[in-house]
Amino acid sequence: MSQESLPQLRLVLAVSLDGRLAPADGGAAQLGGAGDRRVLEESLAWADGCLIGAETLRLHGTTCLIRAPDLLEQRHRAGFPPQPAALVVSRSGQIPGQLPFFQQPIDRWLLAPSSAAPLPGQASGQSQGQAPGFQRHLPLEPWPCLLSRLAAEGLKRLLVLGGARLAASLLREALIDELQLTLCPQVLGGPHSWVPLQEACAGSHWRLQEMRPLDGDELMLRYARHGP
Ligand SMILES: NC(=O)c1ccc[n+]([C@@H]2O[C@H](COP(=O)([O-])OP(=O)(O)OC[C@H]3O[C@@H](n4cnc5c(N)ncnc54)[C@H](OP(=O)(O)O)[C@@H]3O)[C@@H](O)[C@H]2O)c1
Repeated sequence: MSQESLPQLRLVLAVSLDGRLAPADGGAAQLGGAGDRRVLEESLAWADGCLIGAETLRLHGTTCLIRAPDLLEQRHRAGFPPQPAALVVSRSGQIPGQLPFFQQPIDRWLLAPSSAAPLPGQASGQSQGQAPGFQRHLPLEPWPCLLSRLAAEGLKRLLVLGGARLAASLLREALIDELQLTLCPQVLGGPHSWVPLQEACAGSHWRLQEMRPLDGDELMLRYARHGP
């Protein structure tokens, strides 16, 4: 699979100074402040679509939307839809139908095995592509095949919104091109490292592209993959 046929992937996370993406007791983490919100929205404005781990969606109930008028205007002028598509990644296919996510004004895609358990409200025998609340349902395939299919569908720039398990599965295969971390001035401890503790990512190297101090003593760092 050639690199050209794959979309560009940017992982965006808010992390504590000790590299945690959630407090020790887990749950729906909100680490970043207003500065982080702005750089997150700038990345959303860059993207054609966002990959979201099913657990992050189940915990938060919604996905992030662009609210800043200048970024909405920028997308409008470029001929893009107001919001990037939201692509939920799941092996189980268990996304509760009552989540407010299903009321958000976005295009929703489900990336799950064709054999995943039926979604709430899904009639038995309902065909692929008709998961309720989702406009599209693509079967899970190995990442390079799936990403190449997404690129062919016009999703050339993908934001990876986490969480850690989704991010790790892409890092492991060296498929993340850019890493954007907002360092938040907290030390959290606990097990929720942004790369799961049991993961080995084979010593990837990154080159600094941008460093921006943000309000609230936060610092945005953006790195591009340098190898391998
Ligand atoms: N600080 C931040 O910027 C930030 C950002 C995002 C999330 N978070 C936090 O991160 C935590 C959640 O992260 P997490 O690591 O537990 O979960 P996660 O990565 O959000 O979701 C894990 C689930 O996603 C699906 N999944 C992940 N990788 C997959 C793959 N390669 N193929 C198929 N399905 C895949 C599976 O869904 P099924 O179970 O449905 O099979 C898996 O159980 C929460 O505390 C959240 O608040 C923080």
